[in-house]
Amino acid sequence: HRLEMELESIEKGGYEHFMLKEIYEQPRSILDSMRGRLVAESSHLMMSGVREYENKLANADRIIIVACGTSWHAGLVAEYLIEDLARIPVEVEYASEFRYRNPIITEKDIVIAISQSGETADTLAAIELAKSKGATIFGICNVVGSSIARATDAGAYTHAGPEIGVASTKAFTAQVTVLTLIAMILGSKRGTLETTKLHQLMAELESIPAKVEKALELNDQIVKISELFKDATNFLYLGRGYNFPVALEGALKLKEISYIHAEGYPAAEMKHGPIALIDEQMPVVVIATKDSSYEKIVSNVQEVKARKGKVIAIVTEGDKTIPSMADYVIEIPETSEHLMPLLSVIPLQLLSYHIAVMRGCNVDQPRNLAKSVTVE
Ligand code: G6P
Repeated sequence: HRLEMELESIEKGGYEHFMLKEIYEQPRSILDSMRGRLVAESSHLMMSGVREYENKLANADRIIIVACGTSWHAGLVAEYLIEDLARIPVEVEYASEFRYRNPIITEKDIVIAISQSGETADTLAAIELAKSKGATIFGICNVVGSSIARATDAGAYTHAGPEIGVASTKAFTAQVTVLTLIAMILGSKRGTLETTKLHQLMAELESIPAKVEKALELNDQIVKISELFKDATNFLYLGRGYNFPVALEGALKLKEISYIHAEGYPAAEMKHGPIALIDEQMPVVVIATKDSSYEKIVSNVQEVKARKGKVIAIVTEGDKTIPSMADYVIEIPETSEHLMPLLSVIPLQLLSYHIAVMRGCNVDQPRNLAKSVTVE
């Protein structure tokens, strides 16, 4: 038994939990998911898995993304990316709903299935259904040789390395990285993404691992904030645009490992319900980085403050407006809004981790949850 424990501590590489190790691995795992696929300096942007189906993908009438859990959140980010950069309509579906809904699928559709484990039963069944209707299936999996990877026509591995913690962290950022590469490839192929913009994005994506490293330096500050809110019974997470899926993911992380009730919302939807929950007890995490919806989210922060909610704001370094209104401010590096989820999710992962540890929860193996859900 002692040997087992020692082995496990070696596997954790000096970290107290796999989840923390995996959070800290992200500068490296994001790099691994771009390796050989992106070299900005030589304008190299290529994915072998995409190449063979490039024309089909680029000419698709629409792309349907199927996934569950955190992978579904990565799919939502991809919807923003692909629609904006490649101008192809995208629908993001919960695999479990899609498969039982008698969905309309044709041979001209491309289905992208996203799965860390590659074993999720609902996602696999959604693929089989789409296949039977003649759609082309593209898989984005982390586990090499997994059932979903084998069931697809083509695909790309995320190369995040094994993820042990049940709450997905590095697999999410790797999925988003791969989906960003795909959106850029399709945008350039279809001529919807100008070359100068493409090159800017490529260079910016290459700088993301270093910026994630900087975001991880926020850890001590996040420990202090966690201390203040660890006994909260509810949390609200708000974001707009590219940060809306990040709000959902932040709330899911907190629910999964700390068992605190948390909801993620697109910030403008707050007035249609969740605003009724806000009082001086309610922590509201607002992801309010400098992007095209910045002015709008400033008003949302004011709405929360007017009801005395406690605002924990994730902002872009150097921002002056939101910090003057928020109760707690977490500053992350600047980047293109297309890539912001890769940075803005980092403090949310750390926040949920520390709160869960402080509450004495089993972070790596939360109650009732499984790493890979092979039953429906
Ligand atoms: C389970 C895991 C989640 C994961 C989801 C989808 O619920 O606990 O972390 O996001 O399944 O898993 P997949 O392997 O398909 O990405």
